Amino acid sequence: MSSLPPLLLANWKMNLCVSESRSLARAIAKSVLNARKNKSTRANVQVVLVPSFTALDAVARVGSRSGAFSIGAQDCFWEERGAYTGEESVCSLREIGVSFVLIGHSERRQYVNESNEAIRKKIECVSNDSTMIPVLCIGENHSQKILGKRKSVLQQQLLSALKGLFQRRLTREIVIAYEPVWAIGTGVPATAVDCAEVYRYIRGLMENAWGAAAVGRLCRIIYGGSVSESTVTDFVSKDISDGALIGGASLTASGFTRIVHGVMDSL
Ligand code: PGA
Repeated sequence: MSSLPPLLLANWKMNLCVSESRSLARAIAKSVLNARKNKSTRANVQVVLVPSFTALDAVARVGSRSGAFSIGAQDCFWEERGAYTGEESVCSLREIGVSFVLIGHSERRQYVNESNEAIRKKIECVSNDSTMIPVLCIGENHSQKILGKRKSVLQQQLLSALKGLFQRRLTREIVIAYEPVWAIGTGVPATAVDCAEVYRYIRGLMENAWGAAAVGRLCRIIYGGSVSESTVTDFVSKDISDGALIGGASLTASGFTRIVHGVMDSL
């Protein structure tokens, strides 16, 4: 387990427009602050809202006024600036106050054919920015799971994305989100036992490259895929994982708040 606080990222994907994102952010801010007040000794949970690009600024303003949560982006481009129509740079994200960036989410691998090489370049670009933490998403699909290829798929995704970083000393934080593709949006999460084995495997690969001390200090391994208020503590607890990436269940203030409370109570 990492020595960093548990991380709860709300991935809103493309589900909300700007005004809806702002309202949801305000409601979540209120209840996170209340929870922190009431549970001061157990309140060490880092909450990150990850809206679509167009809603980032509005949600970031709520975050900086309230101090209730940090902001994440769902993607970024690997160049600082230039002729890249439709892309977003780390420099713009930094200016808005983004501190986490999802990279290589399975929906981007699937719908826009994001390649391992693109993912590697994005990881390098975000890791080079001292204000931002990359969240690398990896996970096997259903047929890979059935064929018993889970570990080889995870190894290949991890090694190709972190190839450059593995050659250097780890000096900045990084988050690995294990998201089995077959669990995303299906209502059927992986089992905690399954995940525990995967985390050990992922942690082992990182420790080989960076050493156990640096990994313990700077890396969090989190779970994503149909996390709900009733299952979150199966995944986020002292000896299982360092947090969760939550899609569907983060789209209502009441649901997401119960997830945050559940994790705070379990610490
Ligand atoms: P889900 O999405 O919680 O709706 O399964 C998780 C994700 O894709 O990050």
